[in-house]
Amino acid sequence: MVGLFAGIGGLELGLTEHGWHTELLCEIDPGARAVLGARFVDVPIQPDVTRLRALPAGTELVAAGFPCQDLSQAGRTAGIRGARSGLVDEVFRLVRRRRGPRWLLIENVPFMLQLGGGEAMRHITDALSDLGYTWAYRVVDARAFGLPQRRQRVLMLASRTEDPRTVLFGEDAGVSHEADPDAHPCGFYWTEGVRGLGWAVNAVPTLKGGSTIGIASPPAVRLPSGEIVTPGITDAERLQGFDPDWTLPALDAHGVRAGHRWKLVGNAVSVRMASWVGHRLSNPLPYEDSDAIELTRTQRWPIAAWGRDRRAFKVPLSTWPVHDPYEDLAGFLDESRLLSARATAGFLRRARSGSLRFPVGFLDDVENHLDRMGGFPQVAA
Ligand SMILES: C[S@@+](CC[C@H](N)C(=O)[O-])C[C@H]1O[C@@H](n2cnc3c(N)ncnc32)[C@H](O)[C@@H]1O
Repeated sequence: MVGLFAGIGGLELGLTEHGWHTELLCEIDPGARAVLGARFVDVPIQPDVTRLRALPAGTELVAAGFPCQDLSQAGRTAGIRGARSGLVDEVFRLVRRRRGPRWLLIENVPFMLQLGGGEAMRHITDALSDLGYTWAYRVVDARAFGLPQRRQRVLMLASRTEDPRTVLFGEDAGVSHEADPDAHPCGFYWTEGVRGLGWAVNAVPTLKGGSTIGIASPPAVRLPSGEIVTPGITDAERLQGFDPDWTLPALDAHGVRAGHRWKLVGNAVSVRMASWVGHRLSNPLPYEDSDAIELTRTQRWPIAAWGRDRRAFKVPLSTWPVHDPYEDLAGFLDESRLLSARATAGFLRRARSGSLRFPVGFLDDVENHLDRMGGFPQVAA
């Protein structure tokens, strides 16, 4: 396989567990490249997709989790013939050549489905149709694979010779019921509090890439004791299915700050999600298409769909293909630290200024935590 936009190799690592061998990696970020170099020893790494001339001969699978910002461009220019609409078109340029790979695996944020009023997705699915591919995608939640992180990602699989539906659609376990918020740690974003909270019971909300200048943006967790903590970077790595310190080699790259590891981890594909795809690629399941409904070109993109020849069909599936044994968030807070008085005070101010409704007892816990941390920090006169 070849990993384009490989980041820290979440897709590649998950697929490796099922026998795939990475022949080439492509990643522009020096910190991420340092991680790939240390973790995928002897695999050649190219920095820029736009400069990649061709895929290695015999490539069977191309994995590509291209940057989402780039899609907005695709949304704007879709329909203009011959226009280069961004990095996703680089993927199409590469797979168009020669025989082409058997599989193309694309991963992205669910926002991709709404971008440009659905235009970005139409751009992608039309391009795949025109290349002769059958495509299928499904929004999948990392919690389905036992990770206590609410993280949804679009997994899209396309092929000219195989049926991607047998990989992505063969199983559906249905959304799981949320646990009791008083008996479990609950994740939220202390940086929010006005319009949203990101509240998740026995899970953290989606780990985010954070700022480009390497400022960490970890979520917070309210423990059943009422204390409020933030997970450490190795906890975050484990919450994504990586071994602790997977991204430590990033610090060897010139000019990379410690906080950059949060961005790398936040951008990554959960290893277990990728591993599920790997498992299903080798163990496809029959898929019965009787429930699929054809989508018009103006309809919203649903949770799951497939298509070819510029036609698309909605498929009634949930974001939980399986219910793997769930791991409690409590086991992922080994390096957590108490949320600072400053961060807690800032959150409380935002929470009080807005009209957001909070879970019962939550703000009392935040206030008590602030008292324990010394109260509102003094502002210099
Ligand atoms: C959403 S992340 C992919 C994460 C990856 N799948 C993982 O598991 O870590 C997108 C990646 O594309 C990289 N990227 C952006 N422009 C690129 C380019 N021109 N060539 C190669 N990589 C690029 C970014 O540095 C970023 O790491």
